[in-house]
Amino acid sequence: MASANHDERRFEDPDTLDLHRENAVDHLSFGYGAHQCMGKNIARMELRIFLEEFTRRLPHLQLVPDQTFRYLANTSFRGPESLRVRWDPARNPERRDPVAREPRRSYPVGAPKRVDAARRLRVAAIVEETPEIRRYVFERPDGRPLPAWTPGAHVDVTVGPWDRKYSLCGDPADRSRWEIAVLCDEAGRGGSRAIHEQVGVGDTIRVRGPKNLFRLDESDDEVVLIAGGIGITPILAMADRLKARGAAYRLHYAGRSRATMAFLDRLARDHGDRVVLYPKDEDRRMDLAAIVAAVPATGRIYACGPERLLAALEGLTADLPVGALRLEHFTATGTSLDPSREHGFEVELRDSALTLRVGADRTLLDVLESVGIDVACDCREGLCGSCEVEVVAGEIDHRDKVLSAGERGRGDKMLACCSRARGDKLTLAL
Ligand code: FES
Repeated sequence: MASANHDERRFEDPDTLDLHRENAVDHLSFGYGAHQCMGKNIARMELRIFLEEFTRRLPHLQLVPDQTFRYLANTSFRGPESLRVRWDPARNPERRDPVAREPRRSYPVGAPKRVDAARRLRVAAIVEETPEIRRYVFERPDGRPLPAWTPGAHVDVTVGPWDRKYSLCGDPADRSRWEIAVLCDEAGRGGSRAIHEQVGVGDTIRVRGPKNLFRLDESDDEVVLIAGGIGITPILAMADRLKARGAAYRLHYAGRSRATMAFLDRLARDHGDRVVLYPKDEDRRMDLAAIVAAVPATGRIYACGPERLLAALEGLTADLPVGALRLEHFTATGTSLDPSREHGFEVELRDSALTLRVGADRTLLDVLESVGIDVACDCREGLCGSCEVEVVAGEIDHRDKVLSAGERGRGDKMLACCSRARGDKLTLAL
């Protein structure tokens, strides 16, 4: 359990205690599926009350420095036998304000919400990369280090009503700052335009993450990187890492024109002849079929770009082994629920001896959560693969952007946040 809870494929920078870790609730300490701890919600509430009251009543509490810790001999949990702290009672908040002594009356039941995990970061710099793309540099207002991240990771940036994902594209070794690049999409839904128009240097904005749903496999030695437009952001961080590791890689980067393609100077400086550019206005088109055909048998392709590019790649790699192609989608087009076009179905949970109804207006994940079946989930829009459940019987209507054609063909797993039943019933191993 301890190893799973520190799995770096699931949790970015797993050994850092990060109170803003958005997917912290995905830990397995309360068990999983039909064998979850029945006391998990009271345990969560107790811990929350303890931590919130403790830090509210003793905000000046400090760890006594230079302690030596002895750890409990225990097969399940690791913790020190004792921890010495100190504080000055004269500085207790209730000495100045008796109201501070009043406990808070109500606490929410259940796991903390992901939206509450946002951290507030200061915009330290804004750099114009192209007329349409700006690079934003974030840092902690208190100057302390940010959590580490790995190539392919992204953060969720909230500006007004908009919540948008952006890949990190700076230097992962530099813990003092995070960097993203934002293309102002005039035809988009407004999120990127709001960032361009409303966010300035010195502002404080809400940022969640980092999370990595597009992870570079550290054992990959032969890699083809493909980027279309602003899809260069995660690909750039991957190229940096592959170069540092001494891996064999080539980066194919397409855009409308050199003037619209971000990071060209940096690519030329750091990756030289590993990079092949395809500016459309110079009549240089990416020959995807030839690129795929040249991938070595042990190689892997990572691609990020417009849906058309990714769909073409999926088609061309259908016969390659599962996992040979890894994609990062900009959007979850086609994965959201439209009740007017859905039908309800029944779902039988074999291990839990439960039969549930998934109405046309609900996702399978919503229904599982409503009866207390914990299924890990992250994006809730078919992009991350974390809500995968095993299917024992029934025909699946796959809607996600994660499973390959081969995996879909086997019909033994589905993503609960978006996929549904083709017919009237599914049976799950839950
Ligand atoms: S929660 Fe991400 S694919 Fe379902």
